[in-house]
Amino acid sequence: MVASQLKGQITVVTGANSGVGLSVAGLLARAGADVTMVCRSPERGEQALAEVQREGAVAGADVRLELADLSRQADVRSLAGRLAARLPAIDILVNNAGVWLHRRETSPEGFELMFATNHLGPFLLTHRLLDALAAGRGRIVNVSSHAHRYGDLRRAELETIVRSDAWRGSFKAYGDTKLANILFTFESARRWADRGITADTLHPGTLATGIVRRNRSALGLLMRMTMSFLPRPGVGGEAVMRLVEDPAPNVVSGRYFKGRKEERADAQAYDADLARELWDRSLAWTGEA
Ligand SMILES: NC(=O)c1ccc[n+]([C@@H]2O[C@H](COP(=O)([O-])OP(=O)(O)OC[C@H]3O[C@@H](n4cnc5c(N)ncnc54)[C@H](OP(=O)(O)O)[C@@H]3O)[C@@H](O)[C@H]2O)c1
Repeated sequence: MVASQLKGQITVVTGANSGVGLSVAGLLARAGADVTMVCRSPERGEQALAEVQREGAVAGADVRLELADLSRQADVRSLAGRLAARLPAIDILVNNAGVWLHRRETSPEGFELMFATNHLGPFLLTHRLLDALAAGRGRIVNVSSHAHRYGDLRRAELETIVRSDAWRGSFKAYGDTKLANILFTFESARRWADRGITADTLHPGTLATGIVRRNRSALGLLMRMTMSFLPRPGVGGEAVMRLVEDPAPNVVSGRYFKGRKEERADAQAYDADLARELWDRSLAWTGEA
């Protein structure tokens, strides 16, 4: 698919008010796609919507804002209901929103907050949009991270890990969630291929964005000191677009990319038993079982 073929495609981008997500929303709108920007803050969301519209959404492209905090399952269900009612077919879903927190916090449902935001929210949203995705082009791009290599979802019971009782520090907990993104992607590709849905995942680059700026850990501080040398968020946005526009999305699915280059993910990402277990447990944790 070349960029011009994105014209009129129905797309949803989470975490669209900042960093990689804002870049992707802008690139999609400039290619003429209809874009729903999912953001959690009304102020930041309105500001980002105005920016995307101002910077050249193609005439006729429908660019809108939807509000939801993805760490709150009630919010995700309500968002999915609104989207499914308005968009009977979805061509592209970019699960991009993510957090890297410097301390242990829990979501309203009692899950470690990064796990709730980075994995359970997108897992639930994607499941609830399944019929719309199957009715459209059904292209899913999940934004993971190189940090998945520091994750380990085999070190304890998954229940213990998601309740943050096996906490090993903020970066490794973030790594757990980014490993979950890849396991979810590969399992989605296996399970939903017969519905015409494809899913790929990527590390968008180590970039100067809010996720680094806000983290107060020693590593976050170190990364902040190098911010001016890090690539701009647009580099990650372009890498996501490369997957969104992939010329052969219906032929190959279930891949991990580092930027624009396909790469082998960490060995645990290919553990099909773990992927199945995470899937089944995630259905139960989100009340979808
Ligand atoms: N930057 C990097 O070096 C890097 C490297 C590897 C992977 N990534 C991945 O790239 C993705 C995008 O991050 P970024 O670097 O662009 O950082 P960012 O600028 O902080 O953007 C993150 C986006 O996610 C949103 N978000 C966070 N928590 C949310 C919640 N509970 N509900 C809804 N939206 C929420 C943020 O909204 P608010 O503005 O309201 O917080 C923001 O729009 C993430 O998945 C991250 O893991 C980034």
